[in-house]
Amino acid sequence: MANIVVFLGDLLSSLGPATVLVFVAVLLLSLWALTPRTPRVNWPPGPFCFPMVGCLPQLIISGRRRQPTDLLPWYDTYGDIMHIKIGEQHMVILGTKELQQEAFVKKASSVSERPLWVYIFDRLVGKDGAGVIMNSGHAWKELRRFTLSSFRDLGVGKHSLQERIQDEARYLVQSMEDENGNPFSPRDRIGKAVSNIISIVVFGTRWNYDEPSEMLTNVDQTLRLLTGILIFTDFGRVFTPTKKIFALVDRLRELIAQELERHRQTFDPNDIRDFIDLFIKVTQEGQDPEVFTEKNFFRTIADLYMAGTDTTANTLRWSLVHMVNEPHVQKKVQQEINEVIGQGRVVKMEDKIRMPYTEATILEVFRMSPVAPFGVAHATSESVEVGGYTIPKGTIVIADQYRILHDKCNFEDPYQFKPERWLDSSGKVTKSGAYIPFSTGPRVCLGKGLAEMEAFIFFTTLMQNFVFKVPNGEKHPNGIEGINTGVFMPYPYNVVAVRR
Ligand code: HEM
Repeated sequence: MANIVVFLGDLLSSLGPATVLVFVAVLLLSLWALTPRTPRVNWPPGPFCFPMVGCLPQLIISGRRRQPTDLLPWYDTYGDIMHIKIGEQHMVILGTKELQQEAFVKKASSVSERPLWVYIFDRLVGKDGAGVIMNSGHAWKELRRFTLSSFRDLGVGKHSLQERIQDEARYLVQSMEDENGNPFSPRDRIGKAVSNIISIVVFGTRWNYDEPSEMLTNVDQTLRLLTGILIFTDFGRVFTPTKKIFALVDRLRELIAQELERHRQTFDPNDIRDFIDLFIKVTQEGQDPEVFTEKNFFRTIADLYMAGTDTTANTLRWSLVHMVNEPHVQKKVQQEINEVIGQGRVVKMEDKIRMPYTEATILEVFRMSPVAPFGVAHATSESVEVGGYTIPKGTIVIADQYRILHDKCNFEDPYQFKPERWLDSSGKVTKSGAYIPFSTGPRVCLGKGLAEMEAFIFFTTLMQNFVFKVPNGEKHPNGIEGINTGVFMPYPYNVVAVRR
């Protein structure tokens, strides 16, 4: 075997690159010619698909900058709905709000599954799925309903949780104040503050900022190892450090199991402390035992951590990028805070209705820097027509939220940070149908209410306490490009926080 590899290596290095390219092209075309044809499907237009690799070569070329903008030029060639193939996996990408609406709302009964057959999902949850994100059918509906009602029981949207977010915002302010006006990176402390809110909801506890929380580090590392759109395909495993990801996920399961055990020892059905207690309660009551299993329990908690930490944290990180880049917007937010809240009390959700400019600024952060640029992959459970084309059963369907939120037809000057676009002529907030950072339809983000509450209290508290600036001698952070692993985050940057 080793001899064959050496021989091939010698042979390839003795040929010129042009000869190798011709050889590869002839090989791929011959394989294509020999591949049995499936009956003709009225697919949406898309780039040429090679046998075995699909349009991966073109994707790699256009995606070499790894930005959510990489696919934008393709729409000029193929139109608003595109068909691509990665390896053997068919994918359809929806590039307008109308197409997203048609697929995820009108045709939701056919386009709301997840591609559980994909290697990475199969390895994580099995072909039958688990938890909320990677699940379908009855179990998904029940777990989603249970998680939403638990959120309500635990105070999401109510005073009890608001107070915990206000407390956490104060810890965050304190940690920034400790920098004494020196430049610092806000990245990790924002992550810790946001992750503490999920910890409070799920485990009933928070961690101090100087105590490293293994759970947070674990989730952070896992999300950084993902590879965007490729993760949704079997083929993606070649490019994804799956071994490392699975080791981290196994460790996360151990950490959750430890918490479950601790809760079981002190469980009191009359004193429900958090999400874990609610789960213990529902299992003890024997409700739907096939759904309320330990497997589903671990996965749902992992989902809440994965989906609920880096998304909100990166929205807040982007918000500071935009505030230091647009000091006039920051100033207007602070004027509104002076008029409505002042310095004498903490920010509360009731203030939001009287603070349209601040709300519009947060909406503009969600739009300009969508942390889930391609949402989460859907899959078809049967053949369905979308945009006049056929999407067969077993196709992955992705909504290009980044394009929708940067489409000139929806938002004028889409690459400019303009909170005013969210205000009507009387200064009231108006959300257009293209406000889709949380997606739409039955799979719409389950944590939307929590995320909006956190974004408002954290952002407004930071603006109430500090003026944020670019440190002397440092460049302005990039407000358009960032790191995209499926979650879109800003490049590392520093700020100076001057006490107001
Ligand atoms: C800025 C913050 C957030 C954004 C932009 C966001 C965005 C999204 C998007 C685009 C989806 C995919 C929906 C679809 O499949 O069509 C999603 C799903 C989900 N999100 Fe969020 N999310 C955020 C925060 C949160 C938080 C705080 C939580 C929970 C604590 C959460 C929990 C979930 C869950 C469980 C799902 C899966 C829903 C399902 O499959 O039924 N998210 N989110």
